[in-house]
Amino acid sequence: MARQLHLSGSDIYAAMGNRNPSISRYATSSLICSEVDWEKILEYAIQNRVDLAFIGPDPVLATPLVDSLIEKGIPTASPSRSAARIETDKIFMRDMLSRHRIPGNIENQSFESEADCRKWISSYDGEFVVKPRGLTGGKGVKVMGDHFSSRQEGMDYALQLIRKDGSVLIEEKLSGEEFSLQAFSDGSRMVAMPLAQDYKRSLPGDRGPNTGGMGSITDHDHLLPFIDRSSRDAALDIMRRVSNAMQKEGMPFRGIMYGQFMLTRSGTKLIEINARFADPEGINVLSILEDDLVEILFGIAGGSMKAEARFANKATVLRYAVPRGYGSDPLPGSINIDDPGRRDALIYYASVNGTLNHVEMTKSRTLALVGIADSIREAGLKVDALVSHVHGDFYMRKDIGTEEMLSEKMKHLKD
Ligand code: AMP
Ligand code: GLY
Repeated sequence: MARQLHLSGSDIYAAMGNRNPSISRYATSSLICSEVDWEKILEYAIQNRVDLAFIGPDPVLATPLVDSLIEKGIPTASPSRSAARIETDKIFMRDMLSRHRIPGNIENQSFESEADCRKWISSYDGEFVVKPRGLTGGKGVKVMGDHFSSRQEGMDYALQLIRKDGSVLIEEKLSGEEFSLQAFSDGSRMVAMPLAQDYKRSLPGDRGPNTGGMGSITDHDHLLPFIDRSSRDAALDIMRRVSNAMQKEGMPFRGIMYGQFMLTRSGTKLIEINARFADPEGINVLSILEDDLVEILFGIAGGSMKAEARFANKATVLRYAVPRGYGSDPLPGSINIDDPGRRDALIYYASVNGTLNHVEMTKSRTLALVGIADSIREAGLKVDALVSHVHGDFYMRKDIGTEEMLSEKMKHLKD
């Protein structure tokens, strides 16, 4: 986001949790603080008389920051706290879909009572997924067969969440091919970005524990080799209906709407809606955005966005370098980067401290390496070439965006 804002010629005032080298490179000034310290961030925005505010991470959307910025007259291209509930409250999201009979919804039940939850799970004969109601950094959802094996274990986790949070959401387990669709939304108009696929599992071949995301791909035609236009259109239609429903209910969604979908035997189903760019998929699409991001964001904030946004007809492959053990027990080390300004591929710094040439890891993801080319396979080769310029004790899923991975997926789809 900082790179695109910089390319748009703006002065950037960045509030961030770590002194991130790639944001610092572009920023006129920065405030290092906890990302949920919204009062400090509000004061910083007012003092610097910013012309526009835009929020990156989800925990901030659950604070009163956006509403307070708008109240102070600062145009803000992110959803209000009530509109952000579409991400911050999963029960609210499922209820919104049911209330407005929006397609793509799946069987689900929420519980506040342990007894009701116990009774329902005991009589449900399908496989299910247990979800905390609120934000958990992508790590709280447990899927039967992946994270727990017996009905009893799933029930224990659900009851534990009721005791901790006061409620829990249970959903039928879907199977199929997952994809992400991000769109700019100004409250009434929605403009789609290229489809993307996120690889959440820590090990090659989509095995191992779920992580925040190990990498992601987009294709030159803005679809995916295993997701065709009709499935994408179905996903966009679901998101448009959600946006219309929110407008009707008096909470127009202004910002980035990001839907996670699954293409199943019975069509395109909605897994989750988020109220921000996806990480990592947001990096893929922003790397090929050809229109001016600042102009788009003013359009979002003012409810007057243009009907289109241009993205290059290029494929992108992103692989994250992460600490060894990331996903279970991360061991942060450091990384040296040769010639970080290389132009044939891009390096984005994630949760790190340091400089463009040398970074100290935290327990979270470190560097996103992005290749851009005419095909996914070639973009993957660009990342391979870039990796030889990155030295240190890191782990990376090397299968993301390779020919082998793509043919494996095509095979899976035919089965
Ligand atoms: P979430 O945190 O909701 O994005 O969920 C994390 C991951 O859990 C998703 O990317 C899916 O792989 C999986 N998941 C979530 N909901 C379901 C579901 N109803 N059926 C199958 N897998 C799911
Ligand atoms: N791609 C996962 C997320 O941003 O939540």
